[in-house]
Amino acid sequence: MEHLSLPDNSYFLGFDSSTQSLKATVLDSNLNIVASELVHFDSELSHYKTQDGVYRDSSINGRIVSPTSMWVEALDLMLQKLAKSNLDFAKIAAISGSGQQHGSVYWKTGSSTILSSLDPQKPLVGQLVDAFSIKESPIWMDSSTTAQCRQIEEAVGGALELSTLTGSRAYERFTGPQIKKIYETQPEVYQNTERISLVSSFVASLLIGGYASIDETDGAGMNLMDIKQRSWSKKVLEATAPGLEEKLGKLAPAYGVAGYIAPYFVKRYNFNQNCLVVQWSGDNPNSLAGLTLNTPGDLAISLGTSDTVFGITSDPQPRLEGHVFPNPVDPESYMVMLVYKNGSLTREDIRNRYAEKSWDTFNKFLQQTPPLNGGKLGFYYKEHEILPPLPVGVHRYSLENFKGNTMEGVTENEVEEFDSPSEVRALIEGQFLSMRAHAERFGMPLPPNRIIATGGASANETILSSIASIFGSDVYTVQRSDSASLGAALRAAHGWLCNKKGSFVPISTMYKDKLEKTSLACKLSVAAGDQDLVSKYAVLMKKRIEIENRLVLKFGRC
Ligand code: ADP
Ligand code: XUL
Repeated sequence: MEHLSLPDNSYFLGFDSSTQSLKATVLDSNLNIVASELVHFDSELSHYKTQDGVYRDSSINGRIVSPTSMWVEALDLMLQKLAKSNLDFAKIAAISGSGQQHGSVYWKTGSSTILSSLDPQKPLVGQLVDAFSIKESPIWMDSSTTAQCRQIEEAVGGALELSTLTGSRAYERFTGPQIKKIYETQPEVYQNTERISLVSSFVASLLIGGYASIDETDGAGMNLMDIKQRSWSKKVLEATAPGLEEKLGKLAPAYGVAGYIAPYFVKRYNFNQNCLVVQWSGDNPNSLAGLTLNTPGDLAISLGTSDTVFGITSDPQPRLEGHVFPNPVDPESYMVMLVYKNGSLTREDIRNRYAEKSWDTFNKFLQQTPPLNGGKLGFYYKEHEILPPLPVGVHRYSLENFKGNTMEGVTENEVEEFDSPSEVRALIEGQFLSMRAHAERFGMPLPPNRIIATGGASANETILSSIASIFGSDVYTVQRSDSASLGAALRAAHGWLCNKKGSFVPISTMYKDKLEKTSLACKLSVAAGDQDLVSKYAVLMKKRIEIENRLVLKFGRC
């Protein structure tokens, strides 16, 4: 086989357009990080007045959106920052990116002309301000489309049918139900939309100056794609909105090329005109690439705005819980994932209310309270939760006489509040016991060979220690907690190689034998906890699930 390698002295740029920020990572051809930058939406683009990068609409139950123009302006600002850091744009051979999954952008009829004729003398944001038929993009935190979810499931023969067909049952945040809601409530806006992008394909479109395809991996987060055929499912399209296929464009594999960088960026920032833009994809799939997850026994836990747990499999079994997506760097395998909406923002909320707004105090409380928390169990939902489907609320229980080995003789009382240190432990144990229980129910391999942690909160070793104790597994981290933009840079390099070869190349050819010497190397952060404790956590987990099932029956949405 012809020897394929990345061109010497070249760079690969990866973005991550996420909920709270836009991040960038630049790798050299040895896959080492040469630059990284961040634009924080709330503080650096404060004129949009977002909180955590979003607007929570109090007038419509569950509506959560972000201003589309803010994402455009963030790209302007990011490129200025990278230019100031003396990054040589001319050396960038390929760019790719990651977007928060499910969020959608609505291009007004006629906007492709604006997109293909951008004036390099001016920033992007002013030129695109009138390009969107909806100015506020629905995002993954939205939970306002329950009615549409049930209608789509019913139209295709039930929730399990939809899951078997598309990889997931209908979820409020998925793009199909969101589009259906727009079609039903604002039909004129839907008619006046010529193209619908995901956040991922949206930013790729800006970079190529034309509409980029939705990639097959992020496309699986829409409840619209036939997961086996990797094509739009006519059945679900019909159940969603008329004329939709035309507005979605064609699907493309994640390792494909979306196009060359637009002249706008060549003239304004001195990019090389041959710089390739590789298809963008979702943030979790990019993290899978950035963590070089390629063994079925490994589990990744991402602790960003959302908490997610994911792994790979060659034999996915779509169910009523969790999601199946095509692996973005391997056409033969799939990614399986569970998602929690109450991740970092809920930890911040408990930190602010009980731990003096300080991670140090939060960690001190976690360290000074005993594992199993003396039987104190908490369910903290600052936002409508996805898993389990429960509304905003807090539920606390105290198990009397609980020693860990059995539930015999243990009584359960609902309580108002715990002492502050116990609140912190109840939150952390609750989050990861729930993750362990649902991962087991989903058929993920437990205990995993190893856990690789990523996302903002993976910088917190005290939290990682709790994960190691609850799962009974070693926890690894990568050099940088931002695996999504790192994975995007890696995928840029991978797409460049596939393009050079003219067909798919396994991504491992890029880092074979040299993984340990690159920025992608994982290192052991916390060793697995004591096995006796892991068994006691199993007893507590069972009890937790029993209570959770009761809460779902009483308050649940589905
Ligand atoms: P996203 O990419 O989804 O926007 P990030 O992965 O950047 O989110 O994670 C941001 C979150 O990381 C913040 O909301 C913050 O709560 C959390 N975080 C950062 N440092 C710590 C820490 N030391 N301990 C716990 N959480 C942290
Ligand atoms: C995944 C999901 C979240 C977002 C966060 O299904 O909804 O993890 O991708 O950006």
